[in-house]
Amino acid sequence: MTDTITHDVLILGAGLAGLRAAVEIARTLKDRVNIGIVSKVQLMRAHSVCAEGGTAAVMRPEEGDAEDLHAWDTVKGSDFLADQDVVDVFVHQSPEEIRQLEHWGLPWSRREDGRVAQRPFGGHSFPRASMAADKTGFFEMQTLYDTLVRHANFTRYDEVFVTSILVENGEFCGLTAIDLPTGRFLALRGKALLIATGGLGCLYGFTTYSQTVTGDGQALAYRAGLALEDPEFIQFHPTGLIPSGILMTEGCRGEGGYLLNKSGERFMEKYAPKMMELAPRDIVSRSMMTEILEGRGFEGPEGLDYCYLDLTHLGADRINKRLPLIREVCMRFIGLDPIEKPIPVRPVAHYTMGGIEADIHGAATVERIWAAGEVACTSLHGANRLGCNSTAECLVWGTITGREIARYLDGNPSWPALPEGRVRSEEKRIYGDLLERRGKENPYEIRSQLRTLMDKYMGVFRTGEQMAEGLKQIRALKERFRNISIQDKGRVYNSNLQHVLETENLLDVAEAATVAALAREESRGAHARRDFPARDDEKWLKHTLVRYSPEGPKLDYKPVRITKWKPVERKY
Ligand code: FUM
Repeated sequence: MTDTITHDVLILGAGLAGLRAAVEIARTLKDRVNIGIVSKVQLMRAHSVCAEGGTAAVMRPEEGDAEDLHAWDTVKGSDFLADQDVVDVFVHQSPEEIRQLEHWGLPWSRREDGRVAQRPFGGHSFPRASMAADKTGFFEMQTLYDTLVRHANFTRYDEVFVTSILVENGEFCGLTAIDLPTGRFLALRGKALLIATGGLGCLYGFTTYSQTVTGDGQALAYRAGLALEDPEFIQFHPTGLIPSGILMTEGCRGEGGYLLNKSGERFMEKYAPKMMELAPRDIVSRSMMTEILEGRGFEGPEGLDYCYLDLTHLGADRINKRLPLIREVCMRFIGLDPIEKPIPVRPVAHYTMGGIEADIHGAATVERIWAAGEVACTSLHGANRLGCNSTAECLVWGTITGREIARYLDGNPSWPALPEGRVRSEEKRIYGDLLERRGKENPYEIRSQLRTLMDKYMGVFRTGEQMAEGLKQIRALKERFRNISIQDKGRVYNSNLQHVLETENLLDVAEAATVAALAREESRGAHARRDFPARDDEKWLKHTLVRYSPEGPKLDYKPVRITKWKPVERKY
């Protein structure tokens, strides 16, 4: 028996982008709108709370920073795959977001003169990361939620897992979902949908992401007929803590931390003599992996060889003031005090530059759907994102999509008809088929094998041979997935069923990313191929589009929008 819930707008995902959009819609339309915020976790458990180092914005033009400089850093960092008109919008809007959060009460870290402090971050040629110590995402989320609750026009649907996006005749017409605490099957109706579900980092075993980040939004959109753009570009952050992968913020290097190999050398001197440890992430991660693969790293557990991130020279005062979370995590998780000893780190899966194809306003290619934040690809980051541009992107496109949706709703659009037959067949797929499966395969083994193979075949360095092998294994896992067993046959809080649905999502996005990566025969940004080590602008200065088909992913391409800067060699 399906329950139907109706809101003018549905926001899927309650992280930074979703909350920022909710605030914008709520304050623009006031009592003329009712908003439904749907999340598979409780609101303050969205992965955005884990963002650490800062949010990029030009706040000091009088001291030498400039929007054009931020734009150039972003375009160069993207290895020239970013759409430059999108970058312009971003650099122009991000300072306003910092000021807006300040007015809503965010406790930014301060300079001596009382102004918002900004620290250096990788690939930025000016200290541009506004921060709240090393807990920036947490304070941004808290500030946005505090702001949202001043409005009465929204309803939270926490712990609701969406199973499909319904699209008919080229337009959005509803969601199907499971209310996890009760197991009730839901149909959610809305005139508009914002997808803001974040990333897909649990595709990898060694990752900075929370276990909840399983590419649900990307997979739902992909199966609903939207294209995934540039999914082959997956970012490895240089400094994941050994052995868990917990993020050791780039802020550590922004505050002056060094990277060392086992001979105690600051090896970045060889790879990026000017910017050293603060070169963009693709370059620092490749440099670290080169040190490790050539035997200059330290031997780590289970093949996790590592380098050192040394903060000891910063002193207790600076570490306690600027990096308190880093110190606490190191002490709690590995019993090491970074005031006294260097931290063992290696590159770790951290971010996806690609996502649901969206235009400069965040509008997807299906009517009534917008996408914002990491799940979207407006082509801001191209082939490699600069640190602290992500939280800024969530805020900027949370605001932009919020405004666009408010404008759309203000035009009093009609209600799309809910396709009842499709709702019933989705309920049957979940409860009549999937839940009843009693096959031989353990879905947890499939998930774990998928993550291991992605670590192995789709890492910092890639080859065609490795990726082809990875793709073969992903497809074998998809076959085995048909024959799974779900042990828990109940409906109340069935996390077993939820994990199976997440694994189905991960398998689809893994296949799409690997097919796209295998096709791109060049190295650009985070996509570094040993067999095609050079960037090839003649053939590959273009965006990938991957579309779902029952036979497997279908590839297409579209041009990059270049308004100011032609590609040149990247030197740091
Ligand atoms: O290193 C960090 O704090 C991560 C920031 C980011 O991904 O932008």
